[in-house]
Amino acid sequence: MAVYTDNHGFFSIVTKNTEYQIQADKYGVLKHIWYGSKVNADMSYLLNYPDVGFSGNPYDAGNDRRYSLNTLPLEYSCDGIGDYRIPAVSVIHSNGSKALDLRYKDYKITKGKYSINGLPAVYADENDAETLEITLCDTATKTEVILRYGVIEKYDIITRCAVIRNCGEKSLKIKRASSLCIDIPQGEWEWIHFHGRHTLERIPERQPIFHGIQESSSTRGTSSHQQNPSVILCSPDCTETNGECIGAFFVYSGSFQIQTELDQLGQIRLTMGLNPELFEWNLNSGEEFETPEAVMTYSNKGFSKLSYNFHKIIRENICRGKYKLAERPVLINNWEATYFDFDDEKILKIAEQASKLGVDMLVLDDGWFGKRDDDNSGLGDWFVNNNKIHGGLKSLTEKIKNMGMKFGIWFEPEMISEDSELYRKHPDWAIQIPDRKPMRGRFQLVLDMSREDVQNYLFDVMSKILKSADISYVKWDMNRSISDWYSSELDSEHQGELPHRYMLGLYALLERLTGEFPDILFEGCSGGGGRFDAGMLYYCPQIWCSDDTDAFERTKIQYGTSYIYPVSAVGSHVSTVPNHQTGRITPIETRAVTAMAGSFGYELDLNTLSDDEKTAVTEQIKRFKKYGSLIHNGNYYRLTNPLKDKSAVWSYVSESMDEILVHGIIYRTEPNMNRKTVKLAGLDESAEYMNTENGKFYKGSALMNGGILLPESWGDYYPIEIHLIKAN
Ligand code: DGJ
Repeated sequence: MAVYTDNHGFFSIVTKNTEYQIQADKYGVLKHIWYGSKVNADMSYLLNYPDVGFSGNPYDAGNDRRYSLNTLPLEYSCDGIGDYRIPAVSVIHSNGSKALDLRYKDYKITKGKYSINGLPAVYADENDAETLEITLCDTATKTEVILRYGVIEKYDIITRCAVIRNCGEKSLKIKRASSLCIDIPQGEWEWIHFHGRHTLERIPERQPIFHGIQESSSTRGTSSHQQNPSVILCSPDCTETNGECIGAFFVYSGSFQIQTELDQLGQIRLTMGLNPELFEWNLNSGEEFETPEAVMTYSNKGFSKLSYNFHKIIRENICRGKYKLAERPVLINNWEATYFDFDDEKILKIAEQASKLGVDMLVLDDGWFGKRDDDNSGLGDWFVNNNKIHGGLKSLTEKIKNMGMKFGIWFEPEMISEDSELYRKHPDWAIQIPDRKPMRGRFQLVLDMSREDVQNYLFDVMSKILKSADISYVKWDMNRSISDWYSSELDSEHQGELPHRYMLGLYALLERLTGEFPDILFEGCSGGGGRFDAGMLYYCPQIWCSDDTDAFERTKIQYGTSYIYPVSAVGSHVSTVPNHQTGRITPIETRAVTAMAGSFGYELDLNTLSDDEKTAVTEQIKRFKKYGSLIHNGNYYRLTNPLKDKSAVWSYVSESMDEILVHGIIYRTEPNMNRKTVKLAGLDESAEYMNTENGKFYKGSALMNGGILLPESWGDYYPIEIHLIKAN
């Protein structure tokens, strides 16, 4: 049992190591009491009620000037009733007023985990999860908000979403509907968000929280390269292994907003949800709206434990389908090898060499369909270009299968080129505003995914291709930010719903296609990692992490990504040198250890390699197959900080702590250099470990406190691989 109540409005959600407390007080106001270590005690004694000027008092509190919604830690803050901090929810009633005074009504505790209509969410069976639902009501308008909490006890995970229900007689408009709102009344906290740009995603930035509001968000219609829908609040002394931190990620792939506010009393509020800049929803009498889900965890053992909890929940309870825990095929992708300049002959040559070296699957990237010799045309025309693929897909696939490999293919379903048959037939399917020229991105427009006819077209045309040949993998790309929001299907009152309706349409299509083709491995992509989020991971267990394949840059990107997302979610390939994004030259072994921190593959023409390099490729694939289960199923530890240190080192430790693989890169070699040590993490302190390369023994406590010596390096970007097994 994870949820407890005293039946008088006090609720405690208890997980393996954490506790979360909420209390409805005598006025029915739902207060946030505690989120932290498991305490087994009512923590409401910590609340204090200061009399703060210009912080008004609810009418029913009479002349009690110490009772103010503007100073209390609240569980789901409302707009328009005297709490001047960030509101979690905001509506406009039919008379134009905004006030929403939510008070406690009732609760329900059930076994299992709630699901959300049409949206991705954590799933778990009755033995692994419990759900708490607390209903709040604004009696004046009969607007209800149901706060849902899903509890996955073993992974210290609490999920949240809110349902807004119009039980009144008149319609209302929702302007803001957060999934998560949490008030932290005490302590000093810093925040970490993950920012970046195309080819440099999810770089962690840690800052003190200053008075006022800080924000990490996207208004691009995608979760974006620029800010990831995830956040960590941490104590100033928090490290990988010590200190307190609270993390949250959003299970949503569209525009989002995360805000944190340090108020006049030094209290912190954190909200996460749909971005109100691009959201509104009309709610008629009797209707309800469900927000997407936010997933939270707390650790008092630093970031490693937070990441552990998130990696577990994403891998086991968000990713789905045949491949969620399965070994992933080592693939070769032709994009950086050929870009648009290929035909079947060229592809077969790449495939032939790849199969000789041990690659499992060839992925045919952009350019196989319609009129598509560059990125200016053809999107939407999902039929084979026979001038490039002579004999069609079936024949190409058969030839590749005869080489002992599987075949995968690229789509960018949500896009439409103006120069395409689809656009000439259905210009109204593109998102654009009448009498206005739309913004183009990569010279393309975006399909209105809220339309059922668009979803049906894509389902039919993609299904036809996927059934036309033996296809084992789909790369689902999305290469622009969305603007010019307008749907010819919606009236003016409902245009503001389009960004969220787009996401519902996209998810509906993904659900249909992944359901129809359960044996196909879907990989997400958006110009690399522009839509790297838990929403997409519900449909695609891996996502192309970045269009930057440079090993050095990738260590930074993958470092940031690893705070929230598991290694198995990261698509990562060895590419050619000089690297196409940076011009940097790194050894092939360095590129391999970096790409192994993910779903491993190659993205170059292997025919261009020397014989030694080809041998190295075969050996790398063998190593990935040997260590793949440890890499994907093991516990991941960040051992250095590549943004500050002179090396990037990370490790995978099996759950039983009897096998460890240390990988990394020493960035620079200097003459007469002292070998550096790196402390390992997550080992059995009392065990003896043996280095399988040289047979040397080390005590677990020694490796964790003194560390291991990194190898003597030669040249820049020197690769590290150390494999240890428990000897006793
Ligand atoms: C962007 C992706 O991230 C690349 O890997 C490649 O698929 C191109 N799109 C193709 O246009």
